[in-house]
Amino acid sequence: MAGWTLADIPWDDFDPARVDPDIVPIVKAASLVEYNAEDYRDYLKGVFHDDPRMKAAVDGWAEEEVQHGVALGRWAKMADPEFDFESSFARFREGFRLPLGVSDSVRGSRSGELVARCMVETGTNTYYSALAQATDEPVLKEICRRIAADEFAHYCLFHTHMKRYLDREELGFWSRFRVALSRIGETEDDELAYAYYAANGGERPYDRRGNSGAYGNRALSCCTPGILERSVDMVCHAVGIKTRRWISKPAAAVFWVLLKFRMSMLARGAH
Ligand SMILES: [Fe+2]
Ligand SMILES: [Fe+2]
Repeated sequence: MAGWTLADIPWDDFDPARVDPDIVPIVKAASLVEYNAEDYRDYLKGVFHDDPRMKAAVDGWAEEEVQHGVALGRWAKMADPEFDFESSFARFREGFRLPLGVSDSVRGSRSGELVARCMVETGTNTYYSALAQATDEPVLKEICRRIAADEFAHYCLFHTHMKRYLDREELGFWSRFRVALSRIGETEDDELAYAYYAANGGERPYDRRGNSGAYGNRALSCCTPGILERSVDMVCHAVGIKTRRWISKPAAAVFWVLLKFRMSMLARGAH
């Protein structure tokens, strides 16, 4: 259960004059992905089917993720009264489904699954921290600040269980590193691109490259070197690299340059 509810958000402080129109489409897309957490809950409960402790943790986690989707969807509707959350979510579900009914992780092991979960929570913590910093709209700032804190707590939760499984499974550094890299690479796969498409009209046929570019370019433009530095620390901690400031700072600087390059590539494919 999250440490906050929708009633804790100061909805009356909403200021339409401070809404950045470039941020609204990515908030809509994020609301659909977050709200879809019940599918991830079912998938994870399948993977950890004989682990009651993990299954209980997954239930609490999914409840918080769904609340993120509700809060973001409500804000998006205030920013754009035309936004129809229900029909957008239905369109998203029609075009994007997770592998359900499985009893093994698509990552090859339970610890691999938990490394991948740590990558997802690093990504969401980075994303909402960046959004909270980038927006001047007070309600969105508060929502993103609270969600970013939840995402960091989720990272810690999955990291704790990952350590438990690493004691039983032999998953070496390079295997963890490989899972982490492949999960980071999947950021540009269909899920976010299709959510962007489903949440923002979708009259034109789905174009993965174009929608992924539009989402990625808008989302990455909110990021800053300081936020990226913490993300690098989180990734390193999940794969077992002990970071020091003299390592994470230059590593974040390198990622920052790569990010800028990626943004220019995405801008070319975006629409
Ligand atoms: Fe979330
Ligand atoms: Fe999360």
